[in-house]
Amino acid sequence: MAHGHGGRGRFPPFPCPDHPSLFMGYTKEESVEKVIVHDLPTHDTIEILGVNDGHIGDEKTDETAFKGFIKHIAEAPNRYWVYNGDNINNAIKSSVSNTYNERYSPAQQKEILIGMLRPIADKCLAFVPGNHEARSGKETDCHLVWDIACRLVGDDMATKLYRENEAVIKVRFGSKANNKPVAYIGLINHGFGGGSLPGSAMNGMYKYAIAFNDVDFTLSGHVHKGILSGKFARRVIDPRNDLITLRDFCVLINGAWADYGGYASRKGFPPGTKGAGRVILHNYTKRMNVLI
Ligand SMILES: [Fe+2]
Ligand SMILES: [Fe+2]
Repeated sequence: MAHGHGGRGRFPPFPCPDHPSLFMGYTKEESVEKVIVHDLPTHDTIEILGVNDGHIGDEKTDETAFKGFIKHIAEAPNRYWVYNGDNINNAIKSSVSNTYNERYSPAQQKEILIGMLRPIADKCLAFVPGNHEARSGKETDCHLVWDIACRLVGDDMATKLYRENEAVIKVRFGSKANNKPVAYIGLINHGFGGGSLPGSAMNGMYKYAIAFNDVDFTLSGHVHKGILSGKFARRVIDPRNDLITLRDFCVLINGAWADYGGYASRKGFPPGTKGAGRVILHNYTKRMNVLI
């Protein structure tokens, strides 16, 4: 091989001095991120729920409904959850939210939320911040969701479960006909995107999900446009058997826990319903539903 940089697999250091553009692109080594793997107890179904957009501290938050949702997660052993951002409102001085309208100070919001989530802490599969918690990261380098995760599950488990931007989780449980567990891959992201109508949120998540080859479901929030879901398919090349197959994936975009009004009405956004759906993963054969 030219330049003596070895056989298969590894790229030379680059840019290659003789051919600067020859090996541009990601190497395996530099593009690695870790999947969060969970081996869960066997049930006929596992339910994955997103806890997002609680906005504790916002005067419009329906705390009774939010607490009811957390109790619902606690009540069944097959229900698991992901922390998916914006669970405190965190109206600090530099943010668009009005500091004077808050029910509690940002520090109180954090304590109240930790108290609410403590009963379900051991069922959390991942922690991802939202833009409201991220305000403190940008302004003061305080990473609130990291702190919340450490308080809820301890430093070691927080290191495993926390991701700054997005988390990819693998959930394994039960068994298939070949006695191996059923495995599902979930893509957890607080959410993103502008657009005033629900379709723009779904377009954004669809585009995001399709860039991953093996994602079975996505869970997000952020857009406050009601609860949105869809089931799609992607084409997957099976190089071992030289086949092109189809594989389903689900998109679930959760709503927020706020009543309508305030910022949304001032900006003329249509109301989205409150609350969250769930992803249902089946045992025995790989099959998913989204329930909203
Ligand atoms: Fe939000
Ligand atoms: Fe958000």
